[in-house]
Amino acid sequence: MSVTSRASTPAPLPRHRDCPFDPPGAYEALREEGGAGRLAFPDGKAGWLLTRHEDVAQLLADDRFSSDRRRTSSPVHAFPVRPDDRRMLGSFIGMDPPEHTRYRRLLSKWFTARAMRRLQPRIEEIVDGHLAAMERAGPPADLVTSFAQPIPSLVICELLGVPYEDRADFQRWATVLLRIGQGEEEVYAARDALWEYMRELIDTKRHRPDEALLSRLVNGEHGAPGGTGTATAAGLTDEELTGVGLLLLIAGHETTANMLALGTYALLRHPGQSQQLRERPEVIDHAVEELLRYLTIVQFGTVRVAREDLEIAGARVRAGETVVGSLASANRDPSRFSDPDTLNVTRETADQIAFGHGIHQCLGQHLARMEMRTGFPALLRRFPTLRLAVPPDEVPLRHDMLIYGVHRLPVTWDRAAG
Ligand code: HEM
Repeated sequence: MSVTSRASTPAPLPRHRDCPFDPPGAYEALREEGGAGRLAFPDGKAGWLLTRHEDVAQLLADDRFSSDRRRTSSPVHAFPVRPDDRRMLGSFIGMDPPEHTRYRRLLSKWFTARAMRRLQPRIEEIVDGHLAAMERAGPPADLVTSFAQPIPSLVICELLGVPYEDRADFQRWATVLLRIGQGEEEVYAARDALWEYMRELIDTKRHRPDEALLSRLVNGEHGAPGGTGTATAAGLTDEELTGVGLLLLIAGHETTANMLALGTYALLRHPGQSQQLRERPEVIDHAVEELLRYLTIVQFGTVRVAREDLEIAGARVRAGETVVGSLASANRDPSRFSDPDTLNVTRETADQIAFGHGIHQCLGQHLARMEMRTGFPALLRRFPTLRLAVPPDEVPLRHDMLIYGVHRLPVTWDRAAG
């Protein structure tokens, strides 16, 4: 296999979308040319972009690549992670085995499909409560603030034991971290604020323990509630626990919230698909996988750094170069999915990779699925006439954020007679 024509001229990560739901067209061209392209990062370094499903999956499963964020270039920030950045402590998304394994073992029991099934009644209650409030207050409504954002936010706060009433602060700081092209000082100030907030909370848990995850970790009870026991794990320092808490809080908020909002927008723009989901609610599991595939909100992909000189997708990657695997492009690869650019809620999608792949595959995926499987059908059931309240081109899209979605989704509906 030969290196593609883009190999000699590094270009920035494609960002321009012609359609709100399709990834940038440049990905398609690159997939057809051979899959790998030379990438120019904002820090001035050059690396690689992989676009085919097979190659992205290989990147994420290959231990010749590292997830160490202190060594990767960022596709969105021009400045490197500071060597003394405390936020890296406990942030296992940026670690390799054996360190990563230690954290993952400690936490995975809290996020199994079984553990999440125990949360279902509470998630249903939260969904119904928010939909009832939206119905009382409207129409119209902003679906982001009345439905998509508060549901995952309240769920993750309860699971972790983070006071929900503090959300205005930590959501504001998290937004700074997730916005593209922010200045270095602003990013570090937001990181510091988040760090101080979580550090204090960890301290509080030591003095006032409760039954939620953070408190159980702080106080050395590592078994999940209702789990098979109190398996103990290596103790974490308070700083490491702070990093874990922040990773879970931010990941738990921003992701599912955007899937719920963008997923609703996609369903409203494809009325035949929402109709199918209303008429055949039993297809919800397929619909959720299909929405994850079709929308792939981690829009700039996953980032790895080569530990050695190697070849992948025909590209000769040098040790130390950053390689970006585009999940959005992989999920539209026609060699893996037939008619990939069509949203089809009854499609039996087996291997979409919106949650990543390999050892870092999303820890919260069962929780996210549960929230979507509960949220979408409940929304469509309660509002059979739900529709956009503005022309489609007035819906503000999150081109400027690491996690794609909509900033606002103005919707309306007909009030039930009587
Ligand atoms: C990792 C996507 C929801 C927690 C990941 C990765 C992706 C992803 C692509 C892999 C990153 C990589 O390989 O570098 C998503 C999407 C979500 C979602 C699309 C919603 C639709 C959640 C939720 C949580 C969560 C609700 C709550 C706890 C995490 C954590 C990791 C992770 C802790 C790091 C896992 C590790 O490094 O072992 N997620 N996520 N995610 N996600 Fe999610």
